[in-house]
Amino acid sequence: MFVAIITGASSGIGSELVRLIGKYIKVDEIWAIARRKDRLESLAVGEGIKLRAIPLDLSNSKSFKEVEKLLKNENKKVEVLINCAGYGKFGAYSDIDFDSELGMIDLNAKALVGMTRTVLPFMNEGAKILQVCSISSFQPLPLANVYAATKVFVLNYSRGLSVELKPRKITVTALCPGWVNTDFFETATNTKNPKAVTKYTFMQTPERVARQGLSAMKKGRLTSIVGFQNKLLYVMGKILPVKLIMKVWLLTQKG
Ligand SMILES: NC(=O)c1ccc[n+]([C@@H]2O[C@H](COP(=O)([O-])OP(=O)(O)OC[C@H]3O[C@@H](n4cnc5c(N)ncnc54)[C@H](OP(=O)(O)O)[C@@H]3O)[C@@H](O)[C@H]2O)c1
Repeated sequence: MFVAIITGASSGIGSELVRLIGKYIKVDEIWAIARRKDRLESLAVGEGIKLRAIPLDLSNSKSFKEVEKLLKNENKKVEVLINCAGYGKFGAYSDIDFDSELGMIDLNAKALVGMTRTVLPFMNEGAKILQVCSISSFQPLPLANVYAATKVFVLNYSRGLSVELKPRKITVTALCPGWVNTDFFETATNTKNPKAVTKYTFMQTPERVARQGLSAMKKGRLTSIVGFQNKLLYVMGKILPVKLIMKVWLLTQKG
């Protein structure tokens, strides 16, 4: 029995990952995790794959115990873990309410580690982890500052963990998309300054991002950047001074 656990499965990139995973990896059962039960229950999955909707709020640490209990009680082994749940908020620190700002750290960073730690004891040799990161992990992003900082955490955590997991032959892949056409923007612009970040260049579809992520995960890649333009941004982030990168980012948002 091959089990895949996918968080953030109720919309956007996560629901595409649920729909497409069977085309890339042998999976018998998908455990789809997010808060909205109705959305989880109506997800499309590949033929012959069993869908299990597990409504949980991952910003609450008790949720990890729930997942652990299910895995223990049912004596399951997990073939694939995909951490996709996450949200961003646009605006300066004072535009974003205190709880939402800390909430990004709780979900994007803490819950990702919480889920990874919870599931790892139930993984065998050959298992795979996909962490949905972002190109915002390549440089500081004023006006999406805490969000980008959480993704720096995800990138470095995933890369470091992949080395620690080499002896167990478990791979960790960090997927770095640019802008993706999902409900992400509804949440991100729900701040005191909804127009803080408005230029979404090189917008990608969630299907494209999910397909590239699944393919990279199957191959056990360390990092996967979606799209040529985003690869270019990665290189620029490596060679240009950080002050210049931040200036250009702010100018593109004003222009
Ligand atoms: N869209 C972009 O431009 C973009 C770019 C780069 C990276 N990403 C990353 O891609 C991932 C997926 O985002 P998306 O674009 O697909 O946005 P989305 O459509 O808004 O999906 C976010 C998912 O996270 C879940 N979620 C939110 N809060 C949660 C909580 N407390 N507990 C459990 N699940 C929770 C949501 O489900 P519920 O509301 O039902 O809980 C939903 O399934 C995120 O990590 C995001 O940072 C997005």
